[in-house]
Amino acid sequence: MECSKALAPLLTMLVLAPLLVTATDPDPLQDFCVADLDSEISVNGYPCQPTWSAGNEFLFSSKVVTGGDPTDSPNGSIVTEMDVSEWPGVNTLGVSMNRVDFAPGGTNPPHVHPRATEVGLVTSGELLVGVLGSLDSGNRYYSKVLRAGETFVIPRGLMHFQFNVGEEEATMFVSFNSQNPGIVFVPLTLFGSSPPIPTPVLSRALRVDADVVDLLKSNDTMECSKTLASLFAMLVLAPLLVMATDPDPLQDFCVADLNGKTSVNGYPCQPSSSAGDEFLFSAKIATGGDPLANPNGSNVTELDVSEWPGVNTLGVSMNRVDFAPGGTNPPHVHPRATEVGMVTRGELLVGIIGSLDTGNRYYSKVVRAGETFVIPRGLMHFQFNVGKEEATMVVSFNSQNPGIIFVPLTLFGSSPPIPTPVLVKALRVDADVVELLKSKFAGFN
Ligand SMILES: *[C@@H]1O[C@H](CO)[C@@H](O)[C@H](O)[C@H]1NC(C)=O
Ligand SMILES: *[C@@H]1O[C@H](CO)[C@@H](O)[C@H](O)[C@H]1NC(C)=O
Ligand SMILES: *[C@@H]1O[C@H](CO)[C@@H](O)[C@H](O)[C@H]1NC(C)=O
Ligand SMILES: *[C@@H]1O[C@H](CO)[C@@H](O)[C@H](O)[C@H]1NC(C)=O
Repeated sequence: MECSKALAPLLTMLVLAPLLVTATDPDPLQDFCVADLDSEISVNGYPCQPTWSAGNEFLFSSKVVTGGDPTDSPNGSIVTEMDVSEWPGVNTLGVSMNRVDFAPGGTNPPHVHPRATEVGLVTSGELLVGVLGSLDSGNRYYSKVLRAGETFVIPRGLMHFQFNVGEEEATMFVSFNSQNPGIVFVPLTLFGSSPPIPTPVLSRALRVDADVVDLLKSNDTMECSKTLASLFAMLVLAPLLVMATDPDPLQDFCVADLNGKTSVNGYPCQPSSSAGDEFLFSAKIATGGDPLANPNGSNVTELDVSEWPGVNTLGVSMNRVDFAPGGTNPPHVHPRATEVGMVTRGELLVGIIGSLDTGNRYYSKVVRAGETFVIPRGLMHFQFNVGKEEATMVVSFNSQNPGIIFVPLTLFGSSPPIPTPVLVKALRVDADVVELLKSKFAGFN
């Protein structure tokens, strides 16, 4: 690509990116805090370099003027990253960028950014951009072929991908409202975590035999161990994620008017005269559902704002989940909330898979009655009943509507379906394996 062609859109995005979206990283407390990437002190983000030692180059970068060679990678795509670890000047400023180059047929495989909304611009070629809604939208698959000069936006925490449907190479530039958006590659996280997610968990979640799971694991594991070493430095410095996410309330209570005709962020308030005091209380999760009523062997009793109008604008909600022996709450992501949970009976294997920052590390523990766990917003996780009796857990979220992206259902049962060639390339298996997986989730919407 010509240099001048690349620079113009880049400059526009650099200027506009912070205005287009709401910042999610903490606000800065000074003009600049150029990251000291070599510091041994671990803080949220990076410590600042002494102001006298930062010149003025930190405001500028030429890193994404040229892209990598996409034909060298098995995905047929190559990312030129420009997050805080590549561009120390963005530390505390709540923004970063990437350039991605695609060979014909290349893909940026289905992934999630746990910490950022993304806006992007295609600068050459023809990219199919696919975005998958959460269960709120019935796992709807939104997609469009974008050409040079066209833009897209991807809400924080939703699964998405790009796929080069043209005959030439394609390039896009994206901006994030975080200095370190993080990335959870879905196939790699499911099938190539380190250590691996146990096969019985995936077999139950994907509704296929262990040999299909092993086939899926076989092609992604190698790639993961290769990248592990180079990611070790990032693991040490990965920022902590502890932050309220919903907007703050502007009054004591705003009991949701679930039938209101006006569409706002959340729900409109009921007139205060009509709200009694029952809205503060709920008995809904005192009893659980029947975990044998569906193929997961688990049953979620939801208590988000649509079930409990009193939590509207308060930034919290809860769920109860009951598990049959061997039952699972399949691998999923909450795009809008961190979760804390407590097991109230039985024995649950709780698994959490870190983003690429941690080399897709798989963290797990068998959690028993009275024991608790925490799951950072946007990270993939699951529960699996490893006991001989039923198990129950109660979880809380820091959002009135955390949303849920069931990973297998979203990949294989979206509506309309993700095109098979996209999944073949992302999963590195033949089309018949993809069709088998799709058949297990057909008609679930
Ligand atoms: C290719 O995809 C894998 C995940 O499947 C990811 O680890 C890797 O970074 C990707 N490479 C590029 C260049 O996007
Ligand atoms: C959960 O259990 C209840 C019965 O307690 C049942 O009516 C409902 O269909 C179950 N839900 C699912 C999704 O299996
Ligand atoms: C079972 O898992 C699928 C996704 O794999 C999900 O759509 C469904 O809601 C789950 N059912 C329950 C009761 O959790
Ligand atoms: C593994 O990936 C390669 C290249 O993407 C593909 O040709 C091969 O069929 C895959 N192996 C299996 C067992 O699916």
